[in-house]
Amino acid sequence: MRIGFKNLIWIFITILDRYLLMKMLYICKVCGYESVKWFGRCPQCQSWNSSEQIRSDRISQKTRHREIPKAQRLSEVSSLSDKRIRTPFSEFDRTLGGGIVPGSLVLIGGDPGIGKSTLLLQVCGCVSDRDIKTLYVSGEESPQQIKLRAERLKIDSRELYILSSTTIEEIEENIERLSPQLLVIDSVQTMRSEALPSAPGSISQISEVTSRIQRISKERHICTFIIGHVTKHGAIAGPKALEHMVDTVLYFEGDTYYTYRILRTAKNRFGPSNEIGVFEMSGEGLKEVINPSSIFIHERRPGDSGSSVVPCMEGTRPILVEIQSLVSPNRVGMPRRTTIGLDPNRASLLIAIISKRLGIDMHDHDIFLNVVGGLRVDEPAADLSVIASLLSSFMERAIREGISLFGEVGLAGEVRGVVHPDLRIREAEKLGFREIILPKSNLQSLSFRGDIKLFGISHIKEIVKKIF
Ligand code: TYD
Ligand code: MG
Repeated sequence: MRIGFKNLIWIFITILDRYLLMKMLYICKVCGYESVKWFGRCPQCQSWNSSEQIRSDRISQKTRHREIPKAQRLSEVSSLSDKRIRTPFSEFDRTLGGGIVPGSLVLIGGDPGIGKSTLLLQVCGCVSDRDIKTLYVSGEESPQQIKLRAERLKIDSRELYILSSTTIEEIEENIERLSPQLLVIDSVQTMRSEALPSAPGSISQISEVTSRIQRISKERHICTFIIGHVTKHGAIAGPKALEHMVDTVLYFEGDTYYTYRILRTAKNRFGPSNEIGVFEMSGEGLKEVINPSSIFIHERRPGDSGSSVVPCMEGTRPILVEIQSLVSPNRVGMPRRTTIGLDPNRASLLIAIISKRLGIDMHDHDIFLNVVGGLRVDEPAADLSVIASLLSSFMERAIREGISLFGEVGLAGEVRGVVHPDLRIREAEKLGFREIILPKSNLQSLSFRGDIKLFGISHIKEIVKKIF
């Protein structure tokens, strides 16, 4: 057989194309966009200088050649609800939608030093105590350092295995050898794959490591927790695609000045999002706070002007929050408007509504608003309480004891209904409140029956008579 000159050139070009030209790919570090050409600005997400060069044959070779699953009847798929692993931390289970789902991949983000490693080591300790084989992989601490922390947290379980490693290949081998049911990766930014030349923490490494962990946890039904650092804007460092790859995204938040920590669900494929769990950092690790309302209002002094209490909803849970304001005459320069824990635009809007609809002018007053306990309140249901607190401080009169308020306020001063009025009222009653001021429209559709007095109002004009 004779091979023509043309054919020879064609074969040569094919080999060149496969082994030299096609091997290099450029990936956008922010959104994961792929291109064979270098780009200064990503055509997909428009970020500058975000291209990173990698070899195309080295991206998740294993994931490209996996078995094709067969479609099955929905009725034949086994349910996971009764197989969830429950931990002694009911606050932790709550954020996951009622326990850890086997085979699920959970990403936990948070500022450095907030307590992510502590929380997960405690969870590992409790779970492994029930003879569930657990592997805790740390790329940041040595086994001795983890042991030291475990001693402080009084964790001593036979089924808890520790691995100090930063390469995904070593981790995969250990998973195959051990077959754990629970896996913790602390943290994804310290892990790397030997197949990629880039440094740990780079976008291609984070995507590669996460996709390999995802594959192994789904194949072997391992519950996996991945710890991720956050950027200075508060999002988990890595491509946006990272949050889509996992089933659940949790954020561990807290103020360094307070010992309270809040675990917040940002995304959950197995339960409601916006759920929160409250913890307190103590000398012996994290302790759950079963009744958060009481801690956020227990230091309140009812006789003080400018203080009001609102039952806010955090996911499906009501929490009582104290809103404080300080309205004082400004004698020098521009009056100040400062809010902590509240949206400043919403606060300005409410101040304008007070001025226009109640005829109370605060334009020459400094106004400071604060949500106590380092909490953030974003829901409009707090409007009525913010207005009550501003009026109370402006008039230097304390709101009557035992009153709590909730309701959204519109631009015409009308009070609008909010969601879950029953849950809010029940929480306030539980904490000893005797009167609630709420939107009239909510009052009409209420199924709540109790001793607490309810006043439905439809305009903020009615508020002054009721709160003082
Ligand atoms: P850590 O879990 O290491 O934070 P992260 O993994 O999010 O970076 O938490 C470290 C902080 O927690 C550190 O400031 C000390 C504090 N801490 C306690 O107050 N009590 C304890 O029992 C432990 C273990 C830590
Ligand atoms: Mg840590």
